[in-house]
Amino acid sequence: MLNYVHSIPTKVFFGKGQIQRLPEALAPFGKRVLLAYGGGSIKRVGLYDTIMKLLHDGGFTVTELSGIEPNPRIESVAEGVRLCKENHIDVILAVGGGSTIDCAKAIACGVFYEGDDLWQMIANGRGRKKALPLVDVLTLSATGSEFDGGGVISNMKLNEKLGAGLTYPAVSICDPTYTFTVSPYQTAAGSADIMSHIFEGYFSREDDCELSDGIAETILKTVMKYTPVALRDPENYSARANLMSCSSVACSGIPEYGKESTGWPCHAMEHELSAFYDITHGVGLAILTPRWMRFILKKDPTALPRFVRFARNVFCLEGEDDQALAQEAIDRLEAYFKSTGIPMTLKELNIDEKHFEVMADHANRNDRLAHAFVPLTRDDIVEIYRACL
Ligand code: NZQ
Ligand code: ZN
Repeated sequence: MLNYVHSIPTKVFFGKGQIQRLPEALAPFGKRVLLAYGGGSIKRVGLYDTIMKLLHDGGFTVTELSGIEPNPRIESVAEGVRLCKENHIDVILAVGGGSTIDCAKAIACGVFYEGDDLWQMIANGRGRKKALPLVDVLTLSATGSEFDGGGVISNMKLNEKLGAGLTYPAVSICDPTYTFTVSPYQTAAGSADIMSHIFEGYFSREDDCELSDGIAETILKTVMKYTPVALRDPENYSARANLMSCSSVACSGIPEYGKESTGWPCHAMEHELSAFYDITHGVGLAILTPRWMRFILKKDPTALPRFVRFARNVFCLEGEDDQALAQEAIDRLEAYFKSTGIPMTLKELNIDEKHFEVMADHANRNDRLAHAFVPLTRDDIVEIYRACL
């Protein structure tokens, strides 16, 4: 087990009715609030009115930034920075899914960025930065942005989508009832994203991190148990609550404690798909994951014991033939993703081979995947993309 640092400064208010804590969450930072949200779901579900009333009653002044896109754009970040500076904003309140929270994180840092080009702040983005305080109300279980310090911003002019170390939310209000209205497609995609955050650390070389691996396996089983329930019965509180807790822990770093970072190969490959085709992140991950697993298992036989552990501990498979166990586990995972109703091939998303080589080069920039569980070359990545067609 390698050394690790536990440092997550975010306070989470989890559960029904926690929105009532919003005024006390904002108050220490000041009265001038930038309310950031997406394309309107918070208005359709009534959350906007609830929040505006709380803010009004609490004597806050509100400036709004609406229309933050799924796969948030650098242009929205720039607009948010402008609004913050113009209105002397004290604190940002992000209400939405990962895209809104990520955009708000970039705005929070962008206010203090001294360069001319905000995209450079994202592109150079390692390490935490000076930032405005951020409070969020989560409405979609997926990315874990409510409990981590990263953000992912897109520059469609450059076909780039990059993750950066930005800032942690000071407070996240996580009420599972706000996810009752999430569509089946986004519910399934979000669940695939949660699972992928686990796979990226679980498939690693450190075999003695029992706590991390146990948390990882529990999250995988929990997500596969409750996603079908949420799809059948969108207002099932237990299902939505379990998915929301899994969302926060899966991407927090905790399931990777004691492990060397793998470079997150499926995320590296998926961000290229999103950067060129603006697809839903979790759908891209669900398509890539089983193909990546089959590829690395074939490329490097030393990967087998991890897959056997995955088969036994997550799918409760039994038998003496390790290869058969590993293949069966991957098949079951693929069948599970299919059963949630999301596309499972790139063709269904109208993606062909055209950009595979450029995407592969970029996914592996600075030899990012040289330390993956099974290191990947550019040609390997192209082969994985092809297997996804
Ligand atoms: O924009 P609105 O109208 O709010 O609608 C959104 C959006 O269309 C809708 N939605 C959200 N909550 C809803 C709802 N619809 C009905 N009821 C609700 N309660 O869902 C759609 C997708 O929202 P989005 O925020 O884009 O989804 P998600 O949370 O999956 O975020 C995806 C983004 O996060 C990045 C992804 O790459 C992508 O850009 N990631 C961020 C990470 C992080 N910060 O740590 C890690 C992840 O690996 C990921 O890369
Ligand atoms: Zn993800």
